[in-house]
Amino acid sequence: MSKEIPVAVLGATGSVGQRFVQLLAGHPWFKVVAVTGSERRVGKKFSETCHWILSEPMPEYARDFKVLPTDPAGLDAHLVFSALPSGVAKELEPNFAKAGISVCTNAGAYRREADVPVLLPEVNADHIDLVPVQRRKRGWSGCIVTNPNCTSTGTTIALKALMDRFGLEKVFGVSLQAISGAGYPGVASMDILDNVIPHIAGEEPKLEWEPRKMLGSLVNEEIQLADVTFSTHCNRVAVSDGHLVCLTVELGKKASVEEAIAALRDYQAPARSGSLPSTPKPVIVVSDDPGRPQPRLDRMTGAGMTTVVGRVREDTLFDLRMTVLSHNTIRGAAGGSIYNAELLVNEGLL
Ligand SMILES: NC(=O)c1ccc[n+]([C@@H]2O[C@H](COP(=O)([O-])OP(=O)(O)OC[C@H]3O[C@@H](n4cnc5c(N)ncnc54)[C@H](OP(=O)(O)O)[C@@H]3O)[C@@H](O)[C@H]2O)c1
Repeated sequence: MSKEIPVAVLGATGSVGQRFVQLLAGHPWFKVVAVTGSERRVGKKFSETCHWILSEPMPEYARDFKVLPTDPAGLDAHLVFSALPSGVAKELEPNFAKAGISVCTNAGAYRREADVPVLLPEVNADHIDLVPVQRRKRGWSGCIVTNPNCTSTGTTIALKALMDRFGLEKVFGVSLQAISGAGYPGVASMDILDNVIPHIAGEEPKLEWEPRKMLGSLVNEEIQLADVTFSTHCNRVAVSDGHLVCLTVELGKKASVEEAIAALRDYQAPARSGSLPSTPKPVIVVSDDPGRPQPRLDRMTGAGMTTVVGRVREDTLFDLRMTVLSHNTIRGAAGGSIYNAELLVNEGLL
């Protein structure tokens, strides 16, 4: 299937915005027609005002774009990808949804709203059914669809595979999060070099709540949170990209290490989201190497969309423990939003 749906990137000059610009180059369905930026960048040429931080060069198609204000008026796009800071997103994203433009966003501003799905298509594609509910309740012809916080992403994908097969009661998690997760310029180099920062503002509540929404069930137009108890510690480490999370889990019923590995390896995206252009192939890779996954070596597995799990072993407190890796600006951000948008298109919701 080849389409040419006009899209725009909001907040295109930041860490996630640049990933959108990169990943959308040559996308089979979406064609970027505009980028927006903060006031200080509006009217400037993208290639001149954007401090490009990715290792591949800025795609040619974007270089000559004039940066537009973040306003739906006159925007010739049916869909926008938002990489706005949360406070800005809170104020501006509804303007697009009201104007009939669907917003696939990375920002956390609307994740806790009852009629807004937090989507990982390989986990909870059915939560897209909240979009017609949101449109009816808010009188919007567009919509807001969010992806989770980047640390919740790999965590939830691994937990879903286990929960489907064995049930899930408790999760204890310790994250080691990359610096790109803090945006650009993010954490000062003098703070993070040779260091670990054992606090990321607002992160633990997100990691303890967002997976419960995604693992929850959509019943009578509402999501019932999964009845799972989370306890987490979030840390920033001196890694450029790729969030590691060490998980200890109590399952609903006992499972051997071999059974858990089989559940993770066999996990498939639901039929509704299983054959979209960004569907991770495979969804989860399980490494047998006791020294993996490692961010530098494993984050680009499946073009950065696959979740990598390793060190699955028995635990002394709960049932099992393991290490999960996910690329934070690809699967955990821009790539995830693009996957969500593909699901919207596939469901006829655009
Ligand atoms: N980084 C990740 O791994 C990750 C993962 C998941 C979710 N997120 C979320 O994604 C969003 C973007 O994160 P980020 O890491 O890319 O942050 P970032 O590097 O700080 O980028 C934010 C961008 O938004 C721009 N901006 C500010 N106000 C704007 C406006 N009114 N209109 C248009 N652009 C505006 C900024 O422009 P200036 O530079 O000119 O100020 C900057 O380029 C955040 O909500 C974040 O929480 C990030």
